Amino acid sequence: MTKRTFDVVVWGATGFTGRLVAEYMVRTYGIGGDITWAVAGRSASKLESLRKNIAGSDADGIPQIVADSQDETSLRNLVAATRVVCSTVGPYAMYGSLLVQFCAEQGTHYCDLAGEIHWMCDMMERHGAAAEASGARIVHSCGFDCIPSDLGTYFVQSQMQERHGVYATRVKGRVVNFAGGLSGGTFASMVSMMEEAKVNPGVLDLMADPYALNPPNLPRGDDGEDQTGARYDQDFHQWTAPFMMAGVNTRVVRRSHAQLGFPWGRHFVYDEAMLTGDGPGGFLRAMLSSAGAGLMAVVSAVSPVRRLLARVAPSPGEGPSLETIEKGFFEVDFLASHPEDLDCNLLVRVTGDRDPGYGATAKMIAECAVCLATDELESPSGFLTPAVAMGSQLVDRLVSKAGMTFSIR
Ligand SMILES: NC(=O)c1ccc[n+]([C@@H]2O[C@H](COP(=O)([O-])OP(=O)(O)OC[C@H]3O[C@@H](n4cnc5c(N)ncnc54)[C@H](OP(=O)(O)O)[C@@H]3O)[C@@H](O)[C@H]2O)c1
Repeated sequence: MTKRTFDVVVWGATGFTGRLVAEYMVRTYGIGGDITWAVAGRSASKLESLRKNIAGSDADGIPQIVADSQDETSLRNLVAATRVVCSTVGPYAMYGSLLVQFCAEQGTHYCDLAGEIHWMCDMMERHGAAAEASGARIVHSCGFDCIPSDLGTYFVQSQMQERHGVYATRVKGRVVNFAGGLSGGTFASMVSMMEEAKVNPGVLDLMADPYALNPPNLPRGDDGEDQTGARYDQDFHQWTAPFMMAGVNTRVVRRSHAQLGFPWGRHFVYDEAMLTGDGPGGFLRAMLSSAGAGLMAVVSAVSPVRRLLARVAPSPGEGPSLETIEKGFFEVDFLASHPEDLDCNLLVRVTGDRDPGYGATAKMIAECAVCLATDELESPSGFLTPAVAMGSQLVDRLVSKAGMTFSIR
């Protein structure tokens, strides 16, 4: 990589999540310290006021770069100035394509919070070869989707190997509990995906494909459709309901397995659901939650309903209150099945403080960016999942810096 001015540039720092990332960078890595970083966005005046708000009289110590998604020169300059672009500019399908192209071409590492599967597939197909050739590591989905799932599975499998010398043939991801809110940017990304599906029905087929993110021409596995209704889980002795992010998380975990060369076996399966408790109460919650998820999927496909939802949902730039962010948390369990001996099954719990989608996500993507910029990574270049790109080095960072835990129970 040619000499770069910055280790990390946070593009989209004036947005709801980007601001949280910038605040985390100030808190954790300081200003003018060993990690050189800058904020970037499309509006110079918004960047000025952000810097003043988060750093007060030290604001001048945070460099700013103006770059608009529609201005190619500004984007090329941004990409040339840094080792890593950390992008919170979404919907990604709307604003992110040129940036990914330039990062792939110029050998600049990249991380984002994308969950737009059709866009990620498109980027991989169009720029995969360029990234491999330039040395860039392009890593999508570095927030609550999909870090706990991808790293949780990776971690429980490495523990299984370390303790029992084998890999689990099955891992179940089970959301135990979480509290948080929704931002305007996330809502806009969901709407943008539905709009795309309306004009391009192939998008819905892609979203339904359990191996949508696997590299083409590689064997698929035994996983089927995502859970849609209430189900009793014999291992957890609880009822379960569909988890809204499973459609992205499971695809990323399966891509990790494929990119690692199928170490967990050709018949390895992974699924996700939300635990709702035992007894009639657990059953009722599972039924209600499944019905709610089903209803949401159906009504959000109807344009007038989407327009109605847009009136009550937060606008771009808005998100959960500070109190919701600070009181938020998440707990996700990963149960790994030993291939022969039930007594050797392993259960790992991954936890984090703060609202998972924003407070915790900001910490996750910031640590991904710093990890890509400064850690000695063994992974190849190209479009990689977080686990494949950064593996145990990222787990160590999330635990030591970002307040997450990965613990065997
Ligand atoms: N995976 C996860 O766990 C997760 C969690 C949170 C968010 N997300 C995703 O992250 C993305 C951002 O969410 P958010 O709530 O932070 O959104 P947001 O508040 O609307 O922020 C969007 C950012 O993009 C910038 N932007 C818009 N158009 C631009 C353009 N043409 N050129 C350059 N910058 C432009 C905005 O700049 P201005 O300030 O100038 O308007 C703002 O900084 C969404 O796609 C969301 O789905 C994912």
